[in-house]
Amino acid sequence: MTMDATSQRFLMCRPTYFAVDYAINPWMDPTAPVDTALAIRQWEQLRRTYLDLGHTVELIDPVAGLPDMVFAANGGTVIGDRAMAVQFRDPQRADEAPAYRAWFEAAGFEVYDPKHVNEGEGDVLLVGDHLLAGTGFRTAHASHAQLQEVFGHPVVTLQLVDPRFYHLDTALTVLDERTVAYLPEAFSPGSRAVLRRLFPDAVHATMADAEVLGLNAVGDGRHVVLPAQATGLAAKLRDRGYQTIGVDLSELRKAGGGPKCCTLRLRQGKASQ
Ligand code: ARG
Repeated sequence: MTMDATSQRFLMCRPTYFAVDYAINPWMDPTAPVDTALAIRQWEQLRRTYLDLGHTVELIDPVAGLPDMVFAANGGTVIGDRAMAVQFRDPQRADEAPAYRAWFEAAGFEVYDPKHVNEGEGDVLLVGDHLLAGTGFRTAHASHAQLQEVFGHPVVTLQLVDPRFYHLDTALTVLDERTVAYLPEAFSPGSRAVLRRLFPDAVHATMADAEVLGLNAVGDGRHVVLPAQATGLAAKLRDRGYQTIGVDLSELRKAGGGPKCCTLRLRQGKASQ
């Protein structure tokens, strides 16, 4: 197995205005206290981790009044020089879409507008040549056809069934060009069969790992950055030869997000230096 790390270009958004003011997934409790200063420190640690691994991190300015904007994965889907903008299911996040769209334009991407609800890389993950696309809670099934037209990659629809794992990136992690890790119980029986067929060597996560958002991880082919609490998954990944790096994003988890949610892959785009 080749375990070469590919240097990545990411987009992130500082959680300056992070809060849990509303509940649009089962993790969010607006009555529970949130420490925004701690959230910022934990996010800085994630950013530092990427820089130490040799990755590039671009930043988008946070907007006051948009507490979930830190979850940059939901800002778009980017492959090559094309960026598909997003349309959120929930009105609370609607104004993030034009902010991310403007960033893609300014960075020189060819921008496509979504015709249906589409929450970006939260639900759309590229593995080799295939785009895995989640639906069931957020991204509309109808948007999968548009993704295929825009990017010209075969799209594989995956049906999510557990409301705690409402975005695909909470239930499945791309480890490298050929392999994923996932929680089988988060998918419908048909989608589980598809995953078994496409990825016979996949790593199966346990519910204990998924419940700390362990699958909300970012791989570069060799390293996997994942929530520190996902110790079982980390051990399995190390057995497969990956190098794991645990990060603590306990505050952001109160909004239902982990490392991957904070990280949008820009791949080979024409983003500004
Ligand atoms: N509170 C946000 C929401 O429910 C969390 C988004 C997490 N992002 C992700 N890519 N899973 O929309």
